[in-house]
Amino acid sequence: MSRPPAGSPLRVALLGCGVVGTEVARLLQSQSTELAARVGAPLELAGIAVRDASRPREGLEGTGLDALLTEDGEGLVRRADIVIEVMGGIEPARGLLLAAIESGASVITANKALLAQDGPTLYAAADAAGVDIYFEAAVAGAIPIVRPVRESLAGDHVERILGIVNGTTNYVLDRMASEGLDLDVVVKEAQRLGYAEADPSADVDGHDAAAKAAILASLAFHTRVRLEDVAVEGIMGLTAQDIAWAKANDQVVKLLAIAERTEDGVVVRVHPALVPAAHPLAGVHGAFNAVFVEARSAGELMFYGRGAGGEPTASAVLGDVVSAARHRVLGGKGPVESSYAQLPVLPASHALTRVQIRLDVQDRPGVLAKVAAVVAEHGVSIEAVRQAPGDGVAHLVVTTHAASQEALDATVEAIRGIDVVDTVVSVLRVEGF
Ligand code: NDP
Ligand code: HSE
Repeated sequence: MSRPPAGSPLRVALLGCGVVGTEVARLLQSQSTELAARVGAPLELAGIAVRDASRPREGLEGTGLDALLTEDGEGLVRRADIVIEVMGGIEPARGLLLAAIESGASVITANKALLAQDGPTLYAAADAAGVDIYFEAAVAGAIPIVRPVRESLAGDHVERILGIVNGTTNYVLDRMASEGLDLDVVVKEAQRLGYAEADPSADVDGHDAAAKAAILASLAFHTRVRLEDVAVEGIMGLTAQDIAWAKANDQVVKLLAIAERTEDGVVVRVHPALVPAAHPLAGVHGAFNAVFVEARSAGELMFYGRGAGGEPTASAVLGDVVSAARHRVLGGKGPVESSYAQLPVLPASHALTRVQIRLDVQDRPGVLAKVAAVVAEHGVSIEAVRQAPGDGVAHLVVTTHAASQEALDATVEAIRGIDVVDTVVSVLRVEGF
């Protein structure tokens, strides 16, 4: 990485001027004096690459920044010291980042989908070129979580990471619970507020959270975890009734990302789960995120803050810009990929989980005993059973102790086949009880 002459500006290229890019551009401009003082050299925004440079941009009105818009991303990255990628998607983001690295620029990206799919190619290219690659904004928006896991905990042994890492789905589940709104209506609202991905199915199907979980797990366990290693279940299978029922029973439904080290290897999963109303995760509202990290020596750590939205995400991007820029001015280099441990990455069936099974059964003697017997036959142990009378049927809620997914699936299937069971209303995992 070559050092610029003392005091000369560092040229910054911005790829993307949407929800995040607009705020990055505005903050680079409005905080230019402070940023120059923190870096030791001025940061000069050299250009902003977009798909359509002729489209008027409300967010840039009155700033003069629209004069920097260009459709020539390739040309722009080749004349930059630092490249910020907030375009999203795989191509052309990947190609532009590689071109930037090849021409000696340090790169900053918020693109978790790209990192989870092909991060190692980018990390290796940056390492070979001797430039920095930073990606704090790729996980949990404004929350500093990448740097703590990658650097602050580099001397510890992370055992487990559990959290809410998608702002859109947390916002959706929260509004569904508090206002009884329909999922589709709230997803549109999340899009309007700039929380959702360009294609919001990445949020609601759990893939955005899975990408973040893969990135965190790779950093935490010094092992490459790819997107396809993460078992994913989104929130589309949840019903308004599931959410209302949870609320009526002092629980909330959250989309959780869980990465854990087991005796046999690493397991990473994303799925909705019931959490008790008194648990700290239940208090994470709107588009906020929270991540718990359990490390051998540090113990339990909790990170909390805004998980999505233009300005909060731009804060994380700018932190990375300052780090990379300081290295340009003062020398030094950020961390490189650490994947030496190469732990086996196991399917989610290796994780032990607990579930709450809600069923409608015939209201007559011996029913509970039949259900309990079927559960026991599958080697699953019952933690609690509750029964509420209904109209001609009884509502039974069976909460299990931790068991393998295979055993739980077989249990539910067998319960469906019991003659006195009318319907299995829902099966949800439980965490934090
Ligand atoms: P937007 O869709 O709002 O903005 C994307 C920008 O990139 C637009 O300016 C668009 O140009 C430009 N762009 C997209 N494709 C191309 C292309 N092929 N060529 C040139 N320019 C292109 O996305 P966001 O700002 O919401 O997100 C950007 C990235 O940040 C994504 O990776 C996302 O996952 C990540 N992120 C987003 C967060 C959020 O809260 N929104 C939070 C954390 C990370 P044009 O304007 O002309 O269409
Ligand atoms: N769509 C993402 C979310 C943006 O809702 O969390 C932040 O990564």
